[in-house]
Amino acid sequence: MGGGPGGTGDGVDSGSLFWAIVMSAFAAFGGILFGYDTGTIGGIIAMDDWLSVFGSFDETLGPYLPTNDQSLVVSILSAGTFFGALLAFPMGDIVGRKWGIIASCAIFSLGVGLQLDTNWATFVVGRVIAGFGVGLVSCLVPMYQSECSPKSVRGLIVGLYQLAITIGALLAAIVLNATKEQQSHSAWRTPIAVQFVWAAILSGGMFFLPESPRFLLKRGRDDAAKISLGRLLTKPKDSLEVEAEYAEISAALDADRALGGGSYVDCFRNTEAKNGLRTWTGILLQGWQQLTGINFIFYYGTVFFKSAGISNPFIITIICDVVNTVMTIFGIQLIDRVGRRRLLLIGAAGMCVCEFIVAIVGVTVGDIQADQSVNLPAQRVLIAFVCIYIAFFATSWGPVAWVVTGEIFPLNIRAKGMSLSVASNWLWNFGIGYATPYLVNPTTTGVNGVKAANLGVKVFFIWGSTCVGCLIFTYFFIPETKGLSLEQIDLLYRESTIIGSEAYRKQILATNETFVGHAKAAHT
Ligand code: GLC
Repeated sequence: MGGGPGGTGDGVDSGSLFWAIVMSAFAAFGGILFGYDTGTIGGIIAMDDWLSVFGSFDETLGPYLPTNDQSLVVSILSAGTFFGALLAFPMGDIVGRKWGIIASCAIFSLGVGLQLDTNWATFVVGRVIAGFGVGLVSCLVPMYQSECSPKSVRGLIVGLYQLAITIGALLAAIVLNATKEQQSHSAWRTPIAVQFVWAAILSGGMFFLPESPRFLLKRGRDDAAKISLGRLLTKPKDSLEVEAEYAEISAALDADRALGGGSYVDCFRNTEAKNGLRTWTGILLQGWQQLTGINFIFYYGTVFFKSAGISNPFIITIICDVVNTVMTIFGIQLIDRVGRRRLLLIGAAGMCVCEFIVAIVGVTVGDIQADQSVNLPAQRVLIAFVCIYIAFFATSWGPVAWVVTGEIFPLNIRAKGMSLSVASNWLWNFGIGYATPYLVNPTTTGVNGVKAANLGVKVFFIWGSTCVGCLIFTYFFIPETKGLSLEQIDLLYRESTIIGSEAYRKQILATNETFVGHAKAAHT
């Protein structure tokens, strides 16, 4: 929320912030839908009873899923999410952030229901529709959270969304493990059906939460915006705190509107508000987050560890999920302390080093498979560096990319800008999910004339190199926004450059400059 003076830096006492924190934090539950759904498919397609319904059969291999079906069924969700993210704009700006999230849960549940069918086409369509819901949620939740949370803890709150994603993936691993014990031909339906519960909790909870005051103000519903601000701040709607916050949001909105409309073309225009810079930053940041290669581990980790000769790949996958969750808890606390830019720089450098080590050790293990005494320590080093790599991701690019995307856009293009950025995340997610089996699998597993490239662990050379790209991108594109309100970030983009942003940020914080104050000063 806004930027008046006060002990918390948010212009109101900490008691009043309590409910704002609780309400914006609840929406993070949307991350469970995302993490669980993306985390569950890898295990489902490895279940024998699922394979006996949907897979092919080979005398020696038993039931199996050919590479093309494997890549289709894993990545098709991200195709749905891509379109869902793109449509998050009309949903978020017309229906609203809150009702948009509720509608997304309904769409998601329809997709989940279709996946309970035994027909391959219905299953695949169900994944696309569920993905559509996840795409909407993945844009609307961070938007709602950014717009409702107090600025002093905004990084932490939006970071909770990423934490929920990791918890969702962990829950998927636990449910899958428990389902393995079920003596039923339709055991594969359990991990799918559990998703109704997540959708019911999110939509049920959102029903009781206030709509984003920034959305209401943008729609010209001034009184409703004040009521919502009053609910978030637990203050009367005509109190000084609510009036100050209202004036700040409205001044920034007026200034953005004065520069022209809020069309898609405006998102790419580099006028005084530097919308073009912000939109490209969002699109590229989300793309680079995927290019860290993280979903290689979460989609294909089990298969990868198995092919590196590791004897219990399922356990290692669960360990990776645990590292991701635990380190995210640690990471989200750093966002408002260490800062966004610094965490992204440190994270990219750390991941880069770890990925090159994994690639080099993995290639070496591949060459010495016969000698178990050398293999075992090498495998341990490989697992350790995969875990450290995940730890770097979880404390930096995982949560920070979502936080930054939620805060860099001015209100008049926020829904469109976020839609485009999140769609970029899912486009890359889809591309990587789809291409990976073809890159990594042994040449013999391809079908329909398409051969897999058999890169195996060498794929980490690619991820290591893309992390260099992440580092360079952050240096030139990401300003430090720690401690600023959304309106102050708007000011930062207008008045400063990326490289000079740190000095300007400090100036804003030192003088407690607000959008209202800045506009007044400009007129005198
Ligand atoms: C981020 C990524 C997502 C990935 C997750 C892993 O949220 O956007 O693709 O699966 O982190 O924790």
